[in-house]
Amino acid sequence: VKRLWIAICALLTLIPLFVGMPAFAADLDNGAKIFGSNCAACHMGGGNVVNGAKTLSKDDLEKWGMNSIDAITTQVTNGKLAMPAFKGRLSDTDIQDVAAYVLEQSNQGW
Ligand code: HEC
Repeated sequence: VKRLWIAICALLTLIPLFVGMPAFAADLDNGAKIFGSNCAACHMGGGNVVNGAKTLSKDDLEKWGMNSIDAITTQVTNGKLAMPAFKGRLSDTDIQDVAAYVLEQSNQGW
């Protein structure tokens, strides 16, 4: 019986660690899905059909200071010029995931 209690206590100590994790680990699979249904119309393959100077390539993201999760989430949330805002259409988590996906893809050259 004592062992059981030790096991239960250990479990209760560990649970918060796991529950806290998703906040830090972006879900790239979900990011890819969000990208396909919300961004690809304008950014197919990491391009930009509206403004060819602002593609999602590593070079362009660096050039315009967009090469961070923060910069991308801000732009996706609020929009910019011809790019629509996604606030209210995508959840904060979805925006984080799609931002992580864009960064990952740009690092890999799409
Ligand atoms: C209607 C077309 C359209 C859609 C849909 C769209 N974008 Fe954009 N996006 C643009 C345009 C236009 C710009 C350039 C804005 C500017 O002039 O600064 C841009 C710029 C960006 C940039 C900065 C690129 C750079 O080189 O500075 C990122 C990152 C980006 N979009 C991500 C996304 C993501 C992620 C989504 C989906 C959630 C998305 N966009 C949906 C049109 C779009």
